[in-house]
Amino acid sequence: MSTLSAAVVADRATTNADRPTGSTPLLPVVGSSLSVPLVTGDAVRYVNLDYAATAPALVSVAERVAQNLTYYSSVHRGAGWPSVVSTTLYEQSRETVAEFVGARPNDVVVFTRNTTDSLNLLASVVPQGCHVIHLDAEHHGNLLSWERCDHTVVAVRRDLKATLAALEAALAAASLRGAREPVPAMVAVTGASNVTGEALALAEIVALAKAHGARVAVDGAQLVPHRRVDMTALDIDYLAFSGHKLYAPYGTGALIGRRDWLDAGAPYLRGGGAVHEVDRSGTDWAEAPARHEGGTPNLLGAIAIAAACEALAALPEGSLQAHEHVLRSRLEAGLATLPDVRMLRIWPEDDVDRVAVVGFTVQGRDPQRVATWLSAEHGIGVRHGRFCAHQLVSVLAPLEGVAGIPSIGPTTTASANVPQALRASLGVGSTIFDVDRLVAALRQLSVSGEFWNYAKKDGQWVPSPDPRSWGPAGEYRDFVGPCRT
Ligand SMILES: Cc1ncc(COP(=O)(O)O)c(C=O)c1O
Repeated sequence: MSTLSAAVVADRATTNADRPTGSTPLLPVVGSSLSVPLVTGDAVRYVNLDYAATAPALVSVAERVAQNLTYYSSVHRGAGWPSVVSTTLYEQSRETVAEFVGARPNDVVVFTRNTTDSLNLLASVVPQGCHVIHLDAEHHGNLLSWERCDHTVVAVRRDLKATLAALEAALAAASLRGAREPVPAMVAVTGASNVTGEALALAEIVALAKAHGARVAVDGAQLVPHRRVDMTALDIDYLAFSGHKLYAPYGTGALIGRRDWLDAGAPYLRGGGAVHEVDRSGTDWAEAPARHEGGTPNLLGAIAIAAACEALAALPEGSLQAHEHVLRSRLEAGLATLPDVRMLRIWPEDDVDRVAVVGFTVQGRDPQRVATWLSAEHGIGVRHGRFCAHQLVSVLAPLEGVAGIPSIGPTTTASANVPQALRASLGVGSTIFDVDRLVAALRQLSVSGEFWNYAKKDGQWVPSPDPRSWGPAGEYRDFVGPCRT
């Protein structure tokens, strides 16, 4: 049995539909029985609380990819049978994605690398003069992409109603701007915050936008893995998401949406496959999606993303939400018992739907050091830093959280000189036992502190010494580099 098959068999054995919600994974994921070393020399089951950054592969996704490797061949290039099969699998994957997100019949599914790529593609086809409106609470992928367009940034308010009113005012100003010569506008909004897990009020936002004749693009990076999104029912014009956050880690993301801009816009990735005809007098570009998918397509990425969509679509109605609700509630309740932990919320007073992503700080402690300690002494993986949402984290996690911890060495994004936070995120492979491990560890931190020594290296806290190693002969060590987010 191959290593992958063995891991898959072990991981598959971990779900049990008869147990109470949250006590077993909802779907088996690869790596759920992974054992990781601690600095003390022990090894423990890894608790992955970092799904929002990159989720583990579903076992069914890994199996589908492995099955189809036999036929792996060039897509849209070749008459050999494996090539014919590969082309069919690639195009079928597009249809599966379209169906999964409730796309309209004439919508286009463009395969990209990830959400960032999808949003950059969309920004590149937004017509001249179109005014893009977005919140400052966005992930950088849905913030920096629009810098090339005529755009307005709306500052998020601490209550949802006021935030929606500010969005509406920006929409009204954009329509006035186009009064003499009508220009389209578009609201680009995150489906769920990657810092707090709060889901945006999409129905209300779409209604506001449509009342002003504007389109709506949704950054679905954190929404699509947690909630069923129906583009037709919600009247969303564009949706972007990443395969690697949807249990499909083979390098593919997707942009789904209206054909007109995607057909009229400049080709995003120019090269083979994106054209009808090239001669010395010019190039006749293909329509979308081929227009934006120059070069050899990522077949395995497309197969993986489609397999993940199928697995999530096959879950009993409401089960994903119920599973995550149990885990998230338990996590929030557990963290609430720790006096030095403060959870981050954009709209603390509003009863806003939240996906299984919880941002928090630990009073008086550097988030990077806490994350390092959780890994080194407890085998728990969480995210720390600013989560590529610098503006939002600056508002929600002021520097009081790290007072008293001196910054040693060069200033980096991971130093104590910028607001930072921690984030625990869960998904279909998570259980209440994962949640309990985190809460117990943080309680121990507040009661008895750290056991090991920690020192700064290149601006990052690292265990000192760090006896852990990895690799066939234990040859790999010292991976720490500056935090890039
Ligand atoms: C809300 C949100 N948008 C966009 C992105 C960018 O996703 P990717 O890095 O896959 O392009 C992320 C990644 O964390 C995210 O959380």
